[in-house]
Amino acid sequence: MEVRQIGQEDRDEWLKLRTRLWPTESGEPMTSASHVTLDNQHAAVFVAEHEGRLVGFAEVSVRAQAEGCRTSPVGYLEGWYVDAANRSSGVGGTLVKAAEDWASQQGCREMASDCVLGNTVGLVAHEHLGYRPTVKSVFLRKSLS
Ligand SMILES: CC(C)(COP(=O)(O)OP(=O)(O)OC[C@H]1O[C@@H](n2cnc3c(N)ncnc32)[C@H](O)[C@@H]1OP(=O)(O)O)[C@@H](O)C(=O)NCCC(=O)NCCS
Repeated sequence: MEVRQIGQEDRDEWLKLRTRLWPTESGEPMTSASHVTLDNQHAAVFVAEHEGRLVGFAEVSVRAQAEGCRTSPVGYLEGWYVDAANRSSGVGGTLVKAAEDWASQQGCREMASDCVLGNTVGLVAHEHLGYRPTVKSVFLRKSLS
């Protein structure tokens, strides 16, 4: 298994993996929430390749601040996914380490992330890698019409 920064040739496979993590999204990476694109210098995508195919990715960006963090800028784990057949063998941890090293090279001294309430595995995996819960909040919406 190899973890490396994404290349243009990985784009289609990466988009397929993205739709598994975010089934309601089209897969296109230019979401206002993540700002992750292949040519954004404030963000990076790392992919894990195993036997010639992509089995996971981590998207990381540099944000000015993040809830519960004490420093600025902050590395933010925008997306993290490993194919079900390849979980619990260290792929996710290696991807996060690559994201953290990249954020550190951008001058970040802290990492932040988020996890949907009820995603027990996501939370536990974060905690195993040293992440601790900070603020717990709920997103709200209202139509203006
Ligand atoms: C979260 C996810 C990316 C982890 O990937 P992974 O390849 O299984 O992660 P790793 O095998 O590197 O495990 C990382 C750490 O979490 C722990 N962990 C992973 N899955 C676990 C599980 N089901 N139960 C308990 N601990 C678990 C590992 O033991 C490891 O800790 P360690 O280094 O102390 O041994 C993967 O489960 C996934 O894609 N889940 C669906 C998408 C998702 O929830 N993403 C995160 C959004 S918050």
